Amino acid sequence: MKKEIRKLLATTLAMTMVFSMASCAAKEATPDESEAETTAQQVTETEATTVPETEAQETEAPVDTPEPTPTINPDYIGATPEEIVAGMSLKDKASQMVQGALYNLNYKQMTRNDYGSVLSTNSNWPANTPEEWIDIVNRYQVSALNSSNGIPYIYGQDSVHGVNTASGTVIFPHNINIGAANDPDLTREYGVCVGSDLQYTGMIWNFAPCVAASQDPRWGRTYESYSSDLDIITSLSVAYVQGLQSEGIVVCPKHFICDGYVKYGTGESNEWIQRIIDRGDAIVSNSVIEDNLAVYQALIDEGAQTIMISHSALNGIKMHENGDYIWLLKNEMGFEGFIVSDWDSLENCSGETLYDNVVICVNAGVDMLMEASNFEECRDIIVEAVNNGDISMERVDDAVTRIIRVKMEAGLFEDPYFEHVSPSYEYNSDYGIEVATKLAEESLVPLKTDAGLTLEPGSRVFVMGPAADDVGALCGGWTVTWEGLTDEEAGAKYIAGADSILDALVAGAADHDITIVTDPAEMDTCDVIVLALGETTYAEWNGDTEDLSITGELAMPGNAAAIAEAAKSGIPTITLLVAGRNVIISDYIDQWDSVIMCYLPGSQGGDAIANALFGECDYQGTLPMPYYQKVSDIESGKVWLPVGFSAVQE
Ligand code: BGC
Repeated sequence: MKKEIRKLLATTLAMTMVFSMASCAAKEATPDESEAETTAQQVTETEATTVPETEAQETEAPVDTPEPTPTINPDYIGATPEEIVAGMSLKDKASQMVQGALYNLNYKQMTRNDYGSVLSTNSNWPANTPEEWIDIVNRYQVSALNSSNGIPYIYGQDSVHGVNTASGTVIFPHNINIGAANDPDLTREYGVCVGSDLQYTGMIWNFAPCVAASQDPRWGRTYESYSSDLDIITSLSVAYVQGLQSEGIVVCPKHFICDGYVKYGTGESNEWIQRIIDRGDAIVSNSVIEDNLAVYQALIDEGAQTIMISHSALNGIKMHENGDYIWLLKNEMGFEGFIVSDWDSLENCSGETLYDNVVICVNAGVDMLMEASNFEECRDIIVEAVNNGDISMERVDDAVTRIIRVKMEAGLFEDPYFEHVSPSYEYNSDYGIEVATKLAEESLVPLKTDAGLTLEPGSRVFVMGPAADDVGALCGGWTVTWEGLTDEEAGAKYIAGADSILDALVAGAADHDITIVTDPAEMDTCDVIVLALGETTYAEWNGDTEDLSITGELAMPGNAAAIAEAAKSGIPTITLLVAGRNVIISDYIDQWDSVIMCYLPGSQGGDAIANALFGECDYQGTLPMPYYQKVSDIESGKVWLPVGFSAVQE
């Protein structure tokens, strides 16, 4: 079922792309035409559900930017969040507490209701330009400021490895690579570069960093984790947050708490989606919880202004209703920002109705409800629940005060249209490209070195395997679209202008006196094979698997054939693994002379890998998570290669 949905989505997206390429039509889904727009995440999460008939389904004409553009209500200038809240109606307060998805919430609704936030989604490929994004973001702001309430809204999105939903900028390596590089200074610079680029888009609330500590590589979100080690996670996430915040970005550590500890087999499932592990139950001891709380404490101390709650449960209690821990953040850990729920997740609390679940979640301490479609209904429920005495006005005031405070601190009351932002670099700066390339280089982890790790001058190198010429595979999920696409699926280079491994090897070959060969007829004239294997792209539960093999269900389709062909040739082989986790290779490793784990190094990955193979940089990466020889070892804890391992540092 899972694979079928995935395939269907890939086909739909590929068809959309072909259409948009052929027609050169305007590509972005604006909020005005949003009813027709369906994102991958929307389809899979709300599949077969009936969206209630609400305003959200009205088709409305665009709201043109009025002249003059509305400014902040002068009454708010110099007012405290508490003073502003004191002047608001209950309905206005409740509207601040919800966040609807871009494709469900149009400009007119924003003017009528002044919702607190809009949740980004992106289903367009190629991606929107920064100019297109800031136009969308600002049009909502015009609409919010034109409302009777006039509180600026905030636009939230997942720039989880670069501004991955905007075109023309670098896609950074995923967090698992950042953990392998384990370079806090460079990670801080990475945060500065992403924060700088985000300012050009107006998308200043970033749902990052993910501080999950993946304990089981079968989890589809493993690549979103820096490491399984909390010390590594703390130092890298703090550095990244420092960088983002220095550019005025509101960060959102996620997913609170212990999301990486979900137990295999407990995945959240329903009638439509069967998850093996994602959103499952983290069954852990108090000391594990305390160690994970310490990560959040470090980020709160660093000034993190928002925190996202995990879809998962902790020792049997869904986090969205786990008030004991959420209130701890506010009452004992000094968190003064606001708590946001994860996508539609409050709906999985233990209540029988949406009303019950909104009440449970808000009373557990969640301040803003990320409800892609049901935001309006949830707003109405908050109003009703206060009138019924099920949620106190004090709780609502606390939530709205926090939300307004964060918006004020983010500068939205002073500069709602980002007219006075000062990014440190031009958009997609050379510096950002340099940082992304260096991070990718530093994240390469040698696992075996028998044939060396560099290409000999004068040699003929046969480059093969499905990941060799595929930029989408280097980038993985959360790239432009929710799940990303391989170039093979996209039918074109997924990130325009990026070099694949093959592109970069070809480009640098002459300078290094190397001949790159790809014609199978000339294979036997070669001295060495570079065999690039990969995983398909995936996000969240679609990456859950019981089969972690490099030739398993999530492997790139050509892996098995390429492995067999390389083995048959008898030529020394350097294998590159492009994967979101430590995939199982024990059936094949004896056939390979050298092995380099590349994880998901992003759009600069091709250049970084070529630089390493040409000997232009050292191999500095170390394993951020344990490597297992077989799936059954995961639960028994029998580790093949430990965290910190590198074959060159033994
Ligand atoms: C994911 C979050 C993400 C959110 C918004 C959720 O399903 O769990 O990590 O920030 O969607 O895209």
